[in-house]
Amino acid sequence: MSAFTTRPLTPAFGVEITGLDLADPESDSLFPHLRALFEEHSALLFRNQSLDDAHHLALAKQFGPIEDRNADSRKPGEAFEIPRVTNVRADGSVTEAMDLHTLHLKANMLWHSDSTFMPVPALTNILIARVVTTEGGATELASTRAAWAEMPETLKVRIRGRGIRHHYAHSRARISPELAKLEMFNKWPETRWNAVWSNPVNGREALYIASHARLVDGLDETESQALLDDLMDFCTQPRFVYAHQWQVGDVLLWDQRAVMHRGTPWPYDQPRTLSSICTSATPADGLHSLRMSAGQTASADARTQDQKHNKEITT
Ligand code: OGA
Ligand code: MN
Repeated sequence: MSAFTTRPLTPAFGVEITGLDLADPESDSLFPHLRALFEEHSALLFRNQSLDDAHHLALAKQFGPIEDRNADSRKPGEAFEIPRVTNVRADGSVTEAMDLHTLHLKANMLWHSDSTFMPVPALTNILIARVVTTEGGATELASTRAAWAEMPETLKVRIRGRGIRHHYAHSRARISPELAKLEMFNKWPETRWNAVWSNPVNGREALYIASHARLVDGLDETESQALLDDLMDFCTQPRFVYAHQWQVGDVLLWDQRAVMHRGTPWPYDQPRTLSSICTSATPADGLHSLRMSAGQTASADARTQDQKHNKEITT
């Protein structure tokens, strides 16, 4: 077994793992260790890797079911294609600053957790840098677990026990009303998730919000947005943030239950491409506790369900 070493990415969260070649088939047996680090530290960085698409997919599958946002439009027999976060068109040219596609990338620059607007939200996103820019284009992560632990009780009580409604078009509308109208941002009905995600492995709580968050239980839209802005401001203070400046081959993955992220601008005449695979959260990751029935506040029933599930899979 190859030994690897870890060092903190920030004092608050995240580790860089060195001495491990993820493309080496022997690294598969180390997955339980990586998963334990993921639960504990919320973000893992591996520099200078050489993972092709098949390796990328194999790594993602260890975390859970592969998220497939285009399952509905794929014809029978058409294979899943690894999503690319890119400003490069099929003909090799880069998209213009005001193209709808570039605006979509700009909407990724609002703090978010991935897929909170889907019927099943994401557990992780594994990003691999394929083409990087000479400046800008960092991906930033913010620990909503570290932030929640330090948040004043006066702010916590305003959100604890409430459900939050999420919709994809909401975050797109903040950048461009025209963008928000596209079918791809309107195909999922609004979701409602508990504002706090409790990690079933270690009990650590994290605030679960995103740019897609639209409405907080008991508040109107204006009140909701004001509260969400206050929470967002608290969670994205520099001491809770790690900024990753990409090199080709870097692999960065994070726990969407406990970390928000955002892209940052770069000179748009430069190409930038990341491969991205999200996996979906499962009951073992605390999914039942996240769902709240209508009128329900604190989700005691669901917690029991998650615990029951975890007992079933560990016994
Ligand atoms: C994503 C994302 C930000 C970036 O891949 O989900 O938000 O830096 N990426 O491109
Ligand atoms: Mn994202």
